[in-house]
Amino acid sequence: MYLTKDEEKVYDGEEGAASQKAMQVIVKLGEAVGAERLVSITNAHASGLSYNNIGDPGMEFLEDLANQGARAKVYATLNPIGYDTTKEVIPLPEGFAEKQLRIINAFRKMGFNITLSCTPYYSKMPAYGEHIAWGESSAVIYANSVVGARTNREGGPLSVLAALVGKTYYSGLHIDENRKPSVEIDVELGKIDDAMAGALGLKIGELVKDGIPFISMPKVGDTALRIMLAAMAASGSVGMAFVKGVTKERADTSGLEKIKIGEKDISMEKSIGQASELYFVGCPHASIEDMRDILKYFESYGSVSKGKRFWITTGSDVYKAAAQEGVAERLMKHGVEIIVDTCPVVAPLGSMFKSIATNSGKSFFYLSRVHGTSVASMSAEELVRAATGK
Ligand code: F3S
Repeated sequence: MYLTKDEEKVYDGEEGAASQKAMQVIVKLGEAVGAERLVSITNAHASGLSYNNIGDPGMEFLEDLANQGARAKVYATLNPIGYDTTKEVIPLPEGFAEKQLRIINAFRKMGFNITLSCTPYYSKMPAYGEHIAWGESSAVIYANSVVGARTNREGGPLSVLAALVGKTYYSGLHIDENRKPSVEIDVELGKIDDAMAGALGLKIGELVKDGIPFISMPKVGDTALRIMLAAMAASGSVGMAFVKGVTKERADTSGLEKIKIGEKDISMEKSIGQASELYFVGCPHASIEDMRDILKYFESYGSVSKGKRFWITTGSDVYKAAAQEGVAERLMKHGVEIIVDTCPVVAPLGSMFKSIATNSGKSFFYLSRVHGTSVASMSAEELVRAATGK
């Protein structure tokens, strides 16, 4: 791989052992996929940080890096961890919080922003065309498809190492020629609500796998768009989608295979009549608009019924905005629990809930696989109606 003089210095250890280790791994991985050079990044987002996922080996790897003097060279943020650091919501296994905090402290030492959210674009929106290294699949697909920034689906450690040297290898979705649709998807549905958007995303991911779909569909808002994209990145390995009317980059669809998706193709268990123990919104983490919408529903339907729970999971930056506006307090008065820093998929929920209902296609996909929970799909409004008994 070609390295500039400055990159060579880092590779040879002139900026310390931690940067050298980071650079050598990035170069090795890049060479394995045939990358000819590196590209400078402006922003990194690390994922896979729950102690539940990385255990002692991951924690010790991060602590070693931090102790060797590793420091982020670019703006860097963090994905959700295994629990809400601001209040007790989930009974944690013995020693879990202490180990999770050691992970966070290692990142703090390395100069990462402790955002703990899967929507880093609500903390700082990258610019169109900017090269970044993000490691959360729902954020990656949003960045490529909606924002027009450029990132591959970086594995957890790679995004951390990329932050430390401010570079990643130039391959995949960083390169213009690779940002081309591989299949056309025509969505023949009427109005698409958030739950349907999740089901649609799961279907597209299943069909497209690691391809790039060009999607023609009825116009949806940002919430449904985020839910759809996150779902296709979960059921498939989709890193980018062209959504007609949303994605700014041009796409040539001539000669592509065309697949139609209609109502019968996206049936998902609705289970509206069936009671769930937890009603949950915020996968990907809720935006301030989501919180305002949910408040509107509660103001028309009432409060969470006794024996039921309603969670909104969000990032601490969005929570601060909701608190400033008074939205958070009003939601909480209706019995809503606003959870920051984590989400039901990455938290060690164990058998805390046997049945969960959500508007998220990604959570629909993962909750049963990760926790063995039965999952129902409902729109945000249907969730509020079910939780309030209306
Ligand atoms: Fe975010 Fe958790 Fe969903 S990390 S995208 S809320 S699975």
